[in-house]
Amino acid sequence: GPVAAVIPAAGRGVRLGPGAPKALRTLGGTPMLVHAVRAMAASRAVSLVVVVAPPDGTAEVKSLLDAHPLPERTDVLVVPGGETRQESVGRGLDALPPGHEIVLVHDAARPLVPVDTVDAVIEAVRDGAVAVVPALPLADTVKQVEPARTPGGPEPVLATPDRSRLRAVQTPQGFDRATLIHAHETVTDDVTDDASMVEQLGEPVVTVPGHEEAFKVTRPLDLILAEAVLARRRL
Ligand code: C5P
Repeated sequence: GPVAAVIPAAGRGVRLGPGAPKALRTLGGTPMLVHAVRAMAASRAVSLVVVVAPPDGTAEVKSLLDAHPLPERTDVLVVPGGETRQESVGRGLDALPPGHEIVLVHDAARPLVPVDTVDAVIEAVRDGAVAVVPALPLADTVKQVEPARTPGGPEPVLATPDRSRLRAVQTPQGFDRATLIHAHETVTDDVTDDASMVEQLGEPVVTVPGHEEAFKVTRPLDLILAEAVLARRRL
């Protein structure tokens, strides 16, 4: 059946430095959000993209998307977001019309995810998984720490989890629609991704291989990397 993608794009992007909301910053002259929408629409399975815009920016986002049309097979809806990522995704889910039994949730801040990764996530849900996350091994060793006594001061290290069992997870994350909606109606804890809400329901979540180019544009250095990846694609 057809797949819908929800793209939360209502964040301010403070870590990127001063300027426009993150999703509206440009890469190669095109807003990051437009790249992210195109990345979802690049999958032939995706027939609807729901963009969750900054509440005071829905009109701007609508005209931006009108100016960058998608393939004929893909519809776009724009809805206003909330205070947190979780709330913004919830608004997107509320706007889903019936008929899409598979839902992807994709950060606007991951504009360069390749279509093969999107399709791998969809395929794993079609094969019966209720929740699927693209994931990569870590390059860095990770420490669990205690909060510093003074801001910026030394943090006592508590533990070093076995790196070989850790994964950095990306988006799009793919879900059975009913499971994702149930998770959003039930889980009230603060979370940083949607799959963790499904985990809290006790439902199984599985990984598929992620991709380096699906990295999240968060800090200024990420913008330089994203521009370089785009330039290499255009060669
Ligand atoms: O802050 P973070 O990088 O985790 O944000 C991930 C995604 O969630 C971004 O695409 C951002 O625009 C979105 N977001 C949102 N509404 C918020 C906060 C973040 O849609 N209130």
